[in-house]
Formats: sequence, structure tokens, C-alpha cells
Amino acid sequence: MTVPDVFDPRIYARGLPHESFRMLRDHHPVAWQEEYEVLGWPAGPGFWAVTRHADVVRVLKDPAAFSSHLGATQIRDPDPADLPFIRRMMLNQDPAPRAAAAPAAPGTREGPSDHGRLRRLVSRAFTPRRVDRFAATARTRARRLLTAARDGGDTFDLVEAVTDDYALLNLADLLGVPESDRSLLLEWTERVIAYQDPDEPPVLGPDGAPVNPRSPAMLREMFDYARQLAACKRRCPADDVMTSLATGELREDELEMFFFLLTVAGNDTVRSAAPGGFLALAENPAQQRRLRSGDVDPGTAVEELLRNHPPVLSFRRTATRDTLIAGRTVRAGDKVVVFHASANHDERVFDEPHRLDLSRTPNLHVSFGDGPHICLGAHFARLQLRVLHEEALTALPPYAPAAPPRRLVSNFINGIKSLPLLLD
Ligand code: HEM
Repeated sequence: MTVPDVFDPRIYARGLPHESFRMLRDHHPVAWQEEYEVLGWPAGPGFWAVTRHADVVRVLKDPAAFSSHLGATQIRDPDPADLPFIRRMMLNQDPAPRAAAAPAAPGTREGPSDHGRLRRLVSRAFTPRRVDRFAATARTRARRLLTAARDGGDTFDLVEAVTDDYALLNLADLLGVPESDRSLLLEWTERVIAYQDPDEPPVLGPDGAPVNPRSPAMLREMFDYARQLAACKRRCPADDVMTSLATGELREDELEMFFFLLTVAGNDTVRSAAPGGFLALAENPAQQRRLRSGDVDPGTAVEELLRNHPPVLSFRRTATRDTLIAGRTVRAGDKVVVFHASANHDERVFDEPHRLDLSRTPNLHVSFGDGPHICLGAHFARLQLRVLHEEALTALPPYAPAAPPRRLVSNFINGIKSLPLLLD
């Protein structure tokens, strides 16, 4: 039996490959994937695709065996010259081994054991109190965007009219980015996330090959900006994340790297989740009616919408030693990639996984990951999505798809580029 391909970024532009995922879960739960040349990107060594819920959770919870640090967290191998730079981001670090958990001497550049320290420092900037303070602004913004879209006619593109702006402006508020600089944020995140998509012109290097958007050269502009913003926040502190980070214990290089992580992690994920949720409701009028009638709690509904449409498709780890997963030996140094959309539809955990059930509880989806890297912005993401759906209940009449959505070409972000809706 041939092993289905879930690597090709073009597959995801046609929707989630549920049949392939089911076949992998049932017959090849840890399946070798060829990493052929695609869209101008060179071939890679290949990787193991992990598709069952239990195995995905296990990989994510065992950083000693499956490292985020060794080869970072994207399927494509980084240029070895860029690796030390990429590892400065907490996403690409591992918790300290137990015996070596003592803090490093002040001023020293720490190695792979940074994650716990960085995570503790930045978590202070994300207290629920600070995040909840943005709920009222997000609500006013949701109402304004949805009402303007509705007043523009019977059909509109939800992505263009509502969700792109909503996600970006909420993140800018949380970070404390001034109004005048907000379009820069959008430009930077599009460069990094949409680089596999043909709509996004690639930036080419001197040899004519596409330049990796995560390389130091591409990010310099953004880092300079992060430093300037931090300096500005030290002069004029406010109740936002950048003030908290700039006046805390982070080193300057950690601060600029974390700014980059937040701009990407906090924007494109919500930009995907928001239209993904509306698409599911547009296609399921009965569930949309349940939400409208007050029959289901919007917070519970958001969890099911995130299970059904996980914004992140995959994250990569590298095996640190020979390890058995689902009966298959993975060798030290192999790439191991978990597929969130497959885990979220695993029949072993979810009853009728392809049925949208807005009151599904418990809902053990892995859309925010698991283990030490579990999403730091989950509370903020949930808040934004709940508020948006609550406001849609009053601002919009019942809605249906007006045309099929256009999806992003990417094996990393489950993006929706346009979602035309038809209002009743
Ligand atoms: C629906 C929206 C979101 C989804 C589905 C999502 C998903 C994820 C996932 C799967 C991870 C784990 C990465 C791994 O396993 O290596 C993660 C990590 C992270 N997320 Fe989110 N995210 C969302 C929104 C946000 C927001 C709004 C922010 C910030 C404002 C944010 C900040 C982060 C950060 C900083 C990390 C890294 C944590 C670490 O390395 O310890 N995310 N996210």
C-alpha cells in the first residue's frame, strides 16, 4: 500500500487531506515522507510524519527525545549558518536537562537550556489580567468591522473586510505598536508565512534562489524596529506587552527575537482561525443556528471550531536518540513532524471526528500544541475568537458560503486567503 504524501504544500490549497491522514493513522502512523524539490525550494532528506493523537502528544511532551533545538521547528532544514541565530528564539529551544537546570551566569549567552528561563520571563507579560484588558477594544473593533462589511452588500469577503484587520490590530494593541506602524507588521508577517504561496513574490538572493525569510538578512529591518520600540516604551511606559518586556530582564537580542516570534505567531494563526471558524459555520447551518439560539456557549464552540480548523498544520522536532514510536524506530538525527489536523480528527480520541459539534466536551484538540512549548498566546487567541463570534451573532444575519474559499499554499499554516460570504 502506498504511503500518502502530506508534505507537498500545494495539497493544502485544496483543503485538509483528510483521506490521506486517515490512511496514515490507520496503516502508517509514523510514515516516511519524501521531501522533494517543490516551488523552487531544494529537496531535503525526508522526515517521519506522526499522525495519531497519542503519538503527537507524546512527541510534543518529550523534548529530551524530540528536540526543538537541534534542527529548529520547521519541516525545511534551516541553512546551517542560520541555525545559531534561529535558536535564539524560544520556540527553537529545549528545556534544561534536570541536572543542568541552574541559571547561567549573568551576561553569558546560554545554549539549549534557555527555554524555561525565557518562557518564565515572557509569561509575565502575558498575564490574563493584561490580556483581558484588551477584550473591550477587541469587541468594539469586531462590531465595527462586521457592521461595515454587512452594510457594504449581501456578499463580502470576510478575510478582506474583517478578519485580517481584526487579528493584526488586536496584536498591535497587545504589543503596543503605534497606529502609524501597523502596516509594517502585516508586511513582515506575510513575508515570513506566505513564502510558499505563489501570490507572494519570493525575495531572491544573488544566486537567483529564494532567500529564506527567517534568515538574519531578511529580519534586520524588523529587529531594528523592535529595538526602537523598546527604547520608546522605556521612555513612555504603557500597559502593553512591549513595555513589560522592555522593562524586564530580557537581553536586547532576546527582546528583538521575541518581538519577531510574537508578530508571526500571534498574527497568522488568528488570521487563519477566524475565517476557518466562519467557514465551518457557513457550511453547517444547523450548528450556526445552535450558536444563534444561545444553545451553546461561544467559548465551547470556539474550541470545536479550532479542532475542526487548526491554524497550524505541522511542527517539527529532531530525534535526539533512537526511539520507538508506534512500533517504528526513529533514528537519532531524524526529523519528526507532528500533524495537528490529523491528531484533531483521530477516531481513537474523538467520537465522529468529522461531525462539527459545537458543544463537544471534553475537546482534547492539539491546535495549541502540548508540552513545554504549548501556545503562550492561547488565552489571547481564544478571547479574540470568542468575542468575534459573539459580535457576529448580533451584527450579521445567517450566512452561507457565496463561493469556495481560497486557501494558502503551505504545509505550515492552514491559511484562508479569501472567504466570500452570502448574507441571508
Ligand atoms: C488560534 C491561534 C493560535 C494557534 C492555533 C497557535 C498555535 C501554537 C502552537 C501549536 C504552538 C506550539 C509550537 C511548538 O509545538 O513548537 C504555539 C506556540 C507559541 N505561540 Fe501560539 N497560536 C495561536 C495564537 C498565538 C497568539 C495570539 C500569540 C501571541 C500573541 C501566540 C504566541 C505563541 C508563542 C510565543 C509560542 C511559543 C511558545 C514556546 O516556545 O514556549 N500564539 N502556538
